[in-house]
This record gives sequence, C-alpha cells and structure tokens, in this order.
Amino acid sequence: MISIKNLSKVFPSKSSNITAVDNLNLEIPKGEIFGVIGYSGAGKSTFIRLLNRLEDPSGGTIIIDDQEITALNKKQLRLSRQEIGMIFQHFNLLWSRTVRENIAFPLEIAGVPKAERLEKVDELIRLVGLAGREDAYPSQLSGGQKQRVGIARALANDPKVLLCDEATSALDPETTDSILDLLVDINEKLGLTIILITHEMHVIRKICHRVAVMEQGKVVEQGEVLEVFLHPKEQVTKRFVEQVMGDQDQDESLETMLKTYDAGRIIRLHFVGETTNQALISQVSKKFNIEVNILHGKVTQTQKGAYGTLFILMDGAEAEIKKAIDYITSTSVEVEVDVNAK
Ligand SMILES: Nc1ncnc2c1ncn2[C@@H]1O[C@H](COP(=O)(O)OP(=O)(O)OP(=O)(O)O)[C@@H](O)[C@H]1O
Ligand SMILES: [Mg+2]
Repeated sequence: MISIKNLSKVFPSKSSNITAVDNLNLEIPKGEIFGVIGYSGAGKSTFIRLLNRLEDPSGGTIIIDDQEITALNKKQLRLSRQEIGMIFQHFNLLWSRTVRENIAFPLEIAGVPKAERLEKVDELIRLVGLAGREDAYPSQLSGGQKQRVGIARALANDPKVLLCDEATSALDPETTDSILDLLVDINEKLGLTIILITHEMHVIRKICHRVAVMEQGKVVEQGEVLEVFLHPKEQVTKRFVEQVMGDQDQDESLETMLKTYDAGRIIRLHFVGETTNQALISQVSKKFNIEVNILHGKVTQTQKGAYGTLFILMDGAEAEIKKAIDYITSTSVEVEVDVNAK
C-alpha cells in the first residue's frame, strides 16, 4: 500500500513560485496498476519523481509499505530506491552498453556477484521477450525493444513498485499495445504494484485497475477505471473519456437509425463490465426466432470487462422479441436494455 498525504512541490522562480504538486492525497493499493492521467503541465512527472525522491517534496509524506520515503536520509534512500523501479518515455538507456550490460547495471551498483548477476539478467531477458538480442546495442533496437530493456533494467532488483512516466508515448499504437500487455503480464506474474502516468486515456482503459485524474497539481477525480468511464464527474475527466469513446451524449445517429429502419425494434444495450458481449448477441440470435443486426455502437475493453453501448435491431414476432429481451436482461445482469423504438 502506498499512502500519500498532503504532498506538495513548489519550484521557486524569480517572478512567481510554481506549485507543480498541490496538497495531493492518494492511496494506492498493493498489486494494482494505478494510472494517473492529466494534460501537459498538470504535474504528473513531478508527482511520480517525488515518489522515488528524484525530487524532494516541499511538504507532505509518502509511505510505501510502512516505510516513510519522505523521512529517509541519503544512505537509506539509496537502498530503498532499489525497491522502486522506474521507466521513462525516452528509455534512458546507456548507449555504450549492450542489452545485457544495461540490464546488469543496477545489479552491479547493488553489488550482486557476477554469476548471480548473469543468471538474473538471463531471466529478465526471457521475461521481457528479448531472447536473442542480448548483445545488441540500444541503437540497434526498435523503440519497443528499447522499452523492454528499460523494463528489464527497472525490474533487476526485484522492486515492489514500478513507476512509468509516459512509458509508451514515444511508441506507435501497436508497439504501445505490446508494451502494455507486457506490463499487465509482469503485474500478474510478479504481483508488482505499477503506477503509470499518461495523457492517453487508451492506456488507462487498457491496463489500469484504478485511475486518478490530475489537474493543476491536484487529484480532481479518482476511482475504478470502469466507474470513471461510466460516470465521469469533472469536465477534464469527460474530455479524457471522449478520447476513447467519442461523445456519446451528442450522438445523433439514433435519430437517423429510427428513420432508416421501419421494421423491427431498435434496442440499446449498455455493457458494464461484461466480458461476453459477442457471445450474448450470437446466443440471442440462435435461441430465438428473430433476426439480430448490430446497427451501431462502440464497446471497448477495460481490465474489469467491456464497457460501451451497442444498438441492435431485432426483427421477428413481437412475442419472440419480448422473450429475447427478457433473456438478455436475465442472463447478463450487467447489461442494461432500453427499448427506444416502436
Ligand atoms: N525543475 C523544474 N523547475 C521549475 N518548474 C518545473 C520543474 N519541473 C516542472 N516544473 C513545472 O511544474 C509544472 C508541472 O510540470 P510536470 O512536468 O510535472 O507536468 P506533466 O504533467 O508531467 O506535463 P507533461 O505531460 O507535459 O509531461 C509545470 O508548470 C512545469 O513547468
Ligand atoms: Mg511529464
């Protein structure tokens, strides 16, 4: 468990002081992938750098597993930093060292004997999927591979926490996905707590269990990812949700659909944490003597299941349609059905 209380960071400047982190309070459960999202300048990087004291706070406390990070002296801090790994947007690799040597670096600093070091490095190379590239230099690797080296290096000393500062922002969408998959894999295999900061809601949607939204140095909203997607409260949160889902309130396509289809019934399915939406629709069309067509909608996956809205058209006898609707309502508790037409 990570507990952050009244955390502040003020950067003094000649004209006026900049409050990058402003009285921030947060509890991060052990073993979770916790996302922090915010626009540029919100204070995300400053916040994450306070967690391993790359920056010293102006006020407040950080406690990681009963250890008060903010109270440690330099020597204690050096040891405790081994328990906090970090990866960066631009990888921060050592360019004159090979993959193997980059990953071995933190082990050398920690004084791990050579034989043990080599064994650990091999294990990490396998974990991050870099077997065969051990002797390459960073300049010979793709962006995704470089970040894999960054991840392996961050995990070398078996940290309790992994901090990720925009770790996928320099990567293309497909490579981003593969790195995110790797982070999920590591979280599950090692039970590692991951804190990642990003300005992309896609990243939050795909891998985070919880999310906090930062604005002007403060957490303005937080909760389980699915809950925040469903009921965003703050304006800034709504804008982030729209990045992934579009603006569903302003969706005028329903009206067009009602005009277009004069036979059958249009039904809106709202999926909340449902994992089997595809299966549901094929089941309904098999089980009942009706035609089911998907008209429109968007369903997206989060760590806790699918979320989104689908409009379907059911055509057939009225009684059969009613049975199908009853079935949907009874089998999938998390699916809300509302009938909008006729
Ligand atoms: N070393 C520093 N000295 C002075 N001001 C700083 C320093 N680091 C950050 N700031 C200021 O603190 C505020 C927050 O910056 P920070 O880098 O934490 O934002 P961010 O959310 O990570 O933004 P981005 O998404 O662009 O990376 C900004 O106004 C920035 O100019
Ligand atoms: Mg930043």
